Amino acid sequence: MKTFVNCSFVFVLIFSFPASQLLANDFSNCSAKGCHLLQKKYEPVHSPVEDDCMACHQTEANEHPLAGKKEFTLTEDVPALCYECHDALNDKTYIHSPVEEGDCLSCHTPHSSENEFLLRTEGGAVCIDCHDLNENGNSMHGPVAANMCMACHDPHQSELAGLLQREDLDLCLFCHVNKKDLQNKPSVHEPFTEGCLSCHSPHSSPYQFMVNQDVPSLCFGCHEEVEVKLDRQSSVHGPFQKGEKCYLCHNAHVSDYDHLLQDKEEKLCFKCHNKKIKKGNHVVKNIAIRVNKANYVHEPIKDDGCSACHEAHTPDNYFLLSSAFPKGAYSEGKTESFAHCFDCHDESLMKEAQTIEATGFRDGNRNLHYVHVNRKKARSCTVCHDIHGAKYAHLIAAKIPFGKWEMPMRFENTASGGSCLTGCHKKLTYSRIKK
Ligand code: HEC
Ligand code: HEC
Ligand code: HEC
Ligand code: HEC
Ligand code: HEC
Ligand code: HEC
Ligand code: HEC
Ligand code: HEC
Ligand code: HEC
Ligand code: HEC
Ligand code: HEC
Ligand code: HEC
Ligand code: HEC
Repeated sequence: MKTFVNCSFVFVLIFSFPASQLLANDFSNCSAKGCHLLQKKYEPVHSPVEDDCMACHQTEANEHPLAGKKEFTLTEDVPALCYECHDALNDKTYIHSPVEEGDCLSCHTPHSSENEFLLRTEGGAVCIDCHDLNENGNSMHGPVAANMCMACHDPHQSELAGLLQREDLDLCLFCHVNKKDLQNKPSVHEPFTEGCLSCHSPHSSPYQFMVNQDVPSLCFGCHEEVEVKLDRQSSVHGPFQKGEKCYLCHNAHVSDYDHLLQDKEEKLCFKCHNKKIKKGNHVVKNIAIRVNKANYVHEPIKDDGCSACHEAHTPDNYFLLSSAFPKGAYSEGKTESFAHCFDCHDESLMKEAQTIEATGFRDGNRNLHYVHVNRKKARSCTVCHDIHGAKYAHLIAAKIPFGKWEMPMRFENTASGGSCLTGCHKKLTYSRIKK
């Protein structure tokens, strides 16, 4: 469009001054008579245009202008003409196609331009003529939306594929400097140390945060084993269900905590488990309150957080436990039913009918764990123990759930035993010291 206007203007000039022809070879100042002002119209003017039109143009003719004739030719064809004065732009491994074809003028004007670097249009707008990057513009990268293509690309050539200015990590850290410090965090996601493009698109993406695939598909691309678990659909943890985002719990880049967790494990889980949650017709207990308000907290929570016992993803057992534990107040009285507890505690506490060492819950040498648990209709451990944290010593619960009734336990702990008074029976006392 611009070229067309230029030409017609030159035409007008030619026919306006038929009588004032220039003398042969006196082209020292082509704008002296008000001609060819156009070539110098804009700032910046190409330096040789300022001084010497004949650096690039030549003629055999004696007179100029001549109506209907074209007396001037270029001293050389573009790009050889440009390379007379400029370093070669076609000697690196990757050469931009229009540069390779010598089409310098697809982006530059030879004379003067209102844009920096003699560009036809401002900055990266010249790129848009041939490259439409709007194809999936849901979330468009800042510098791309602003046509700042040269922040990442060299317009001419590069030793790096994709005409890139810098290599993978440096390319992005050039602006995202805050991400550089992150590399020193205690726990760094391996792909984050190598570059950003394994997860992000550089220009735009239909997904939030410009990731190149939707999460979790992005993650499954490298973490197949996690996907297999999800597909089983048996007892999938709420926030882990298909479509939910892994970064509810994980940071995709770095973390101060193991397993790239967003927070200290306990705090992370309490983000959601600080209230009751309805799951079908079951109400999931508020665990935060049980731990925070407890007089006695189960040791592994203090030491290792929640994954000492729970699998945050998809485990084989009720309550997302890493081994078996029954649902409800009753179960079959064998150690396998309570396998979860015996991952850490000794089975003998429920197996030996008579003992003086397997458990403190005995009357003399009569094992009261055996009495309650080692029977056809066994009481589950949770009938007496509050697993996360409890009011009484030995993790004894304040209340025993019975249907919709919560019976008070009224447990009293003594040096040699204890007593309780529940709705199950009258007050009963046990003592480890033989009467
Ligand atoms: C650095 C080299 C160079 C210099 C110096 C130069 N030109 Fe040009 N000029 C070109 C090129 C290349 C073209 C061809 C443009 C095209 O094909 O689009 C051109 C084309 C032209 C045209 C044809 C119409 C147009 O604008 O495309 C005129 C007229 C012209 N130049 C006048 C001048 C005048 C007058 C000067 C000095 C004031 C000058 N040129 C200095 C390179 C130069
Ligand atoms: C007769 C020598 C000569 C020729 C031929 C020549 N240039 Fe230049 N060009 C210069 C000089 C001198 C400068 C100013 C150098 C500087 O500022 O570093 C310059 C500057 C430039 C710039 C940078 C402008 C800026 O703002 O920094 C561009 C782009 C450019 N030339 C493109 C071309 C193209 C395209 C051609 C071929 C059509 C060409 N040049 C032909 C001498 C030439
Ligand atoms: C695809 C568009 C495009 C083509 C084709 C192109 N250039 Fe450029 N050129 C640019 C852009 C954009 C800049 C500004 C670079 C920047 O912003 O860093 C530039 C800058 C320049 C500069 C000044 C800065 C530098 O890198 O030295 C020169 C000289 C130059 N080009 C010459 C040429 C020559 C000669 C050709 C043909 C062989 C050519 N260009 C072809 C887009 C192009
Ligand atoms: C005159 C048309 C034209 C303009 C203007 C243009 N390009 Fe290109 N570009 C091409 C062509 C043709 C290809 C080769 C396409 C292909 O291989 O599919 C290409 C390829 C590319 C590639 C891929 C190179 C590779 O090795 O994969 C990049 C990156 C690129 N251009 C960036 C730019 C940038 C940045 C600008 C603006 C400075 C720009 N282009 C302006 C025509 C153009
Ligand atoms: C934040 C850095 C960045 C910016 C800004 C950027 N690009 Fe790219 N571009 C890349 C990377 C990285 C690639 C991929 C190179 C590869 O795969 O080898 C790429 C690839 C390309 C390609 C070739 C592949 C494709 O997607 O078609 C073109 C063409 C291209 N860019 C044009 C542009 C244009 C035009 C702009 C400005 C509107 C721009 N780029 C801005 C980083 C960027
Ligand atoms: C020229 C500077 C620049 C470069 C280079 C750059 N970015 Fe950006 N990036 C930005 C700006 C500016 C934003 C917008 C920041 C904001 O909105 O807070 C941004 C935002 C982002 C976002 C967030 C998008 C969102 O939706 O929140 C991601 C992801 C991103 N960049 C990734 C990359 C990757 C990957 C690279 C390397 C290929 C890269 N950036 C290179 C400047 C840059
Ligand atoms: C393993 C995949 C992966 C890699 C590698 C990766 N990212 Fe991300 N990035 C994500 C995901 C997923 C999100 C969105 C969730 C989030 O914010 O945690 C994101 C979010 C972002 C954001 C927006 C939110 C924020 O944290 O500011 C920016 C910017 C960003 N990434 C830049 C980068 C840069 C720069 C690199 C390379 C140094 C990089 N990413 C490498 C997956 C990745
Ligand atoms: C490009 C491949 C790749 C992608 C994509 C990827 N990861 Fe990774 N991830 C790895 C590698 C490699 C490791 C380190 C080796 C390992 O522990 O398996 C790792 C480790 C991890 C770890 C730490 C394991 C541990 O125990 O310390 C977590 C958690 C993780 N990734 C989650 C994610 C999440 C969430 C996403 C999606 C946002 C994701 N990854 C996307 C390759 C990837
Ligand atoms: C509710 C929080 C939570 C969510 C949501 C979650 N994770 Fe995890 N993830 C964890 C915890 C906690 C661990 C540490 C488990 C352990 O110590 O056994 C972990 C460990 C991992 C590990 C390393 C150990 C392993 O099992 O291989 C990977 C990889 C992983 N997660 C990937 C993912 C992916 C991919 C997603 C999304 C599909 C995701 N996670 C969603 C909490 C979560
Ligand atoms: C983003 C919220 C969220 C986070 C974070 C979260 N959970 Fe959950 N969790 C839920 C929801 C919702 C349910 C109930 C719905 C379901 O499981 O289908 C649930 C259920 C559970 C259950 C009961 C499952 C059952 O079958 O009754 C356990 C156990 C559990 N979560 C443990 C954890 C642990 C351990 C963590 C920390 C690693 C954690 N959760 C982090 C939301 C969360
Ligand atoms: C010592 C093993 C152990 C540790 C450590 C542990 N839990 Fe549990 N958790 C259990 C057992 C056993 C159950 C099933 C019995 C019950 O409901 O109390 C359970 C049940 C749950 C439930 C489901 C409750 C319901 O009503 O369905 C949630 C939620 C839960 N735990 C969250 C957590 C959180 C959060 C942490 C970390 C602060 C944690 N757990 C630490 C063993 C543990
Ligand atoms: C990950 C290991 C682990 C698992 C699984 C586990 N515990 Fe514990 N438990 C401990 C540790 C460690 C202690 C503190 C040391 C001790 O008293 O043995 C403890 C203490 C206790 C105490 C208090 C002991 C006292 O006298 O104060 C009770 C009661 C208890 N656990 C019951 C259970 C029950 C019931 C289960 C199964 C639902 C279970 N534990 C599962 C590790 C575990
Ligand atoms: C009828 C109530 C009741 C049931 C059911 C029960 N316990 Fe206990 N448990 C207690 C009492 C009371 C103590 C405290 C004994 C004391 O005074 O030292 C205790 C103590 C413990 C201790 C501390 C070490 C010891 O044996 O003294 C562990 C571990 C323990 N129980 C695990 C379990 C497990 C595992 C189950 C389920 C298989 C279970 N309990 C079922 C009442 C019960």
